[in-house]
Amino acid sequence: MATTLRDAHGEALSTTDRASLAAYDQALELFHGYQLDPVAVLAPALERDPGFVSGHLLMAGMVLGAFDGSMYGMAKACVDAAAANAVNANEREKSLIGALGAWSQGDMLRGNQLLGRHLVDHPRDLFALQIAHASDLFLGHSFMLRDRVARSLARWSAEDKGYGYVLGMYAFGLEECNEYARAEAMGRRAVELQPRDSWAVHAVAHVCEMQGRAADGIRWLKATQHGWAADCAMAVHNHWHLALMHIGAGDVGAALALYDAAVTPVPESVALNLNDASALLWRLTLQGLDVSDRWQALAARRAVQAAWGCNAFNDMHTVMTLAAAGDAGAADEGIAAMSKAQHHPDAHEWDVGRPAASALRAFATGQYARCIELLLPLIDASAPLGGSHAQRDLLHLTLIEAASRAGDRSLVRAMGDERAARKVATRATARAEAAVAA
Ligand SMILES: [Fe+2]
Repeated sequence: MATTLRDAHGEALSTTDRASLAAYDQALELFHGYQLDPVAVLAPALERDPGFVSGHLLMAGMVLGAFDGSMYGMAKACVDAAAANAVNANEREKSLIGALGAWSQGDMLRGNQLLGRHLVDHPRDLFALQIAHASDLFLGHSFMLRDRVARSLARWSAEDKGYGYVLGMYAFGLEECNEYARAEAMGRRAVELQPRDSWAVHAVAHVCEMQGRAADGIRWLKATQHGWAADCAMAVHNHWHLALMHIGAGDVGAALALYDAAVTPVPESVALNLNDASALLWRLTLQGLDVSDRWQALAARRAVQAAWGCNAFNDMHTVMTLAAAGDAGAADEGIAAMSKAQHHPDAHEWDVGRPAASALRAFATGQYARCIELLLPLIDASAPLGGSHAQRDLLHLTLIEAASRAGDRSLVRAMGDERAARKVATRATARAEAAVAA
């Protein structure tokens, strides 16, 4: 074994090559802030040093972090390259080969579970923490978004390089557990420590979204945009959040302009970017805007990039797009493909994703009663679909609009009251917590 070097956070790498370590640390730092382009930094190092096990694993994790089924083969090739050199691997690397191997073969839940054990043994492995955190989001593990980070947080101190990134993840986990005051304080502190932490910026944006603080959210995102609006993997998603703030502030024109400027697909868009585009167009459609030409362009793109059966969240957004573009037949084919998805017996993303996709297809074709029938039972049970509360709020908004179009006044009132109470309650809670803290 040739473990002689350590990464920027103290984790051992089975290499003696300082140039490989330098490329690894540089790529990892970019990845922590979702800044571009860690792949371009790491790829030449792997070409030069094909036995660099940790390098192959970092590449695999970054590819898997795109949550794009069409890229699983690429991730598996990276894990295979690491495994081919496992004779030189240390215990940490062998553990990661197991976790990322399971995920790259389509079993994200098993990969997530193995990463959980790995992090118990390696609480300062910030790379592993970041990809486990991301998989918690797409598995709908809201509590683990907070609690997995908490398991590691005590092993970090403010003097440690990378501490801000841990705080940023913790901030997002707190937000997804509705602890908004702590989330906002933690997220703002993380951005103070590391202004290019686009994930921490995003955590504070989520707090503003969930509390209905559109003006605060717009101010926050504009004040921090030097850290996320360009050369950043979070650029599309944070622009999506900014567009939601504009909708919340009643300015749908500004939201549509942001779609055209920063959310609409570009050649390199991955599935997550396409999801944001679909979700924003859907919300604008619910607002009464005619965006049919954009739906056509987006549906054409999604149809060629679809990787049915890998990720229910992605598939639901693709079905929604095909249906909104007027191609109900293609949407039905997508729903049929979702029905054949193979998955871990304890993963329930398809139990939500399939009826949700059918409900959105029903809405797009004017079958509002059918949409209501499918969506109402999902509203308080949608977490296994994955994604954030803000992303799954699309289902709630669709249900209200379906009820309105179906003339179901009782349901409009009930869902509207529920929504208003939640936002008022979160604002009141934030004020109370701030008063206690003061
Ligand atoms: Fe988000």
